[in-house]
Amino acid sequence: MRIEGKEYRTIWYEENVVKIIDQTKLPHRFIIKELKTVKDAINAIKVMEVRGAPLIGGTAAYGMALAVKENNSPEFIKKSSEELIQSRPTAINLKWAVDRMMKKLSGINSDQILSIALNEAKEICDEDEKFCEKIGINGLKIIEEIYNKKKDTVNILTHCNAGWLATINWGTATSPIYHAHKKGIPVHVWVDETRPRNQGANLTSYELNEEEIPNTIIADNTGGILMQRGEVDMCIVGTDRTLSNGDVCNKIGTYLKALAAYDNNVPFYVALPSSTIDWDIKDAKDIPIEERSSEELSHIEGIDENNKIKKVLIYPNKSKAMNLAFDVTPAKYVTGLITEKGISEASSDGLKKLFN
Ligand code: MRU
Repeated sequence: MRIEGKEYRTIWYEENVVKIIDQTKLPHRFIIKELKTVKDAINAIKVMEVRGAPLIGGTAAYGMALAVKENNSPEFIKKSSEELIQSRPTAINLKWAVDRMMKKLSGINSDQILSIALNEAKEICDEDEKFCEKIGINGLKIIEEIYNKKKDTVNILTHCNAGWLATINWGTATSPIYHAHKKGIPVHVWVDETRPRNQGANLTSYELNEEEIPNTIIADNTGGILMQRGEVDMCIVGTDRTLSNGDVCNKIGTYLKALAAYDNNVPFYVALPSSTIDWDIKDAKDIPIEERSSEELSHIEGIDENNKIKKVLIYPNKSKAMNLAFDVTPAKYVTGLITEKGISEASSDGLKKLFN
């Protein structure tokens, strides 16, 4: 997608290094960063220079290739794979990508190993781009249907950033929106700010602006009243891990939005590539929920009048704060799962029909 009119993907390999867009600096600075070692890739995931389940997976895949480049002994590759998997706990795409790389590399001890690793990492990223595009084509039908009935702008609410910046390209939740916009359907997006890291305000609104899609940032607590007033036609969110029974783990606050949507008969869709499905965990209580530093709540970053980035404390300095990063929305509140293979009911039967 575009930034200042130029097409980008979120991660690519060029001049023997991996390049990423540093998302901790957006929307105020656009900085391309180089990752040269597997440690760089681990750090980029940990500090969220890259984030969003599919992009975390893509970065982990390239991280494995960087490990092979540094030292192609089986011991180093194995240790790197374990360190990568531990870099963030909730998004299943991370483990999925590392496992796929390990499978590809197992038993290879020729000088071809680096090019095999780089090709597989690129393949993982290319596949994600293709799947996200298909999610858009499938999700477009839902937006079209609403538009054909309403004959007016379709208002879509989204939470966090499940846009192209969270994937390799297109995004998951945003892909149907980008496809609708390209087809000339008038859309307007309610962008949840998404405290504490403000991925909605800093990233979703930023990328929609770059693609000239009308959007309005709202405080996270505003969605409910907008739904009661009939100002939300549908919700689309992404997910970090969806269980085979259709339960959806996503950015903290998604659950409350799903409850409000259910109470107001607003369709609540979740968009995801199949790499985000966890076929193993059966009970949502077993999903590892990341708890991040309380500083993400107590401090806020922005630019001052001299265009300098500043971080300031906004809480009483004696207060404690707690920062859970994800929650789980039970399948019964999810209208449907928009995947690369089509739209499924959020249930074991629905997912089995599409993926078996
Ligand atoms: O903590 P983040 O920014 O990595 O969380 C991202 C989300 O929760 C996204 O909604 C999710 O990964 C889906 S991305 C297509």
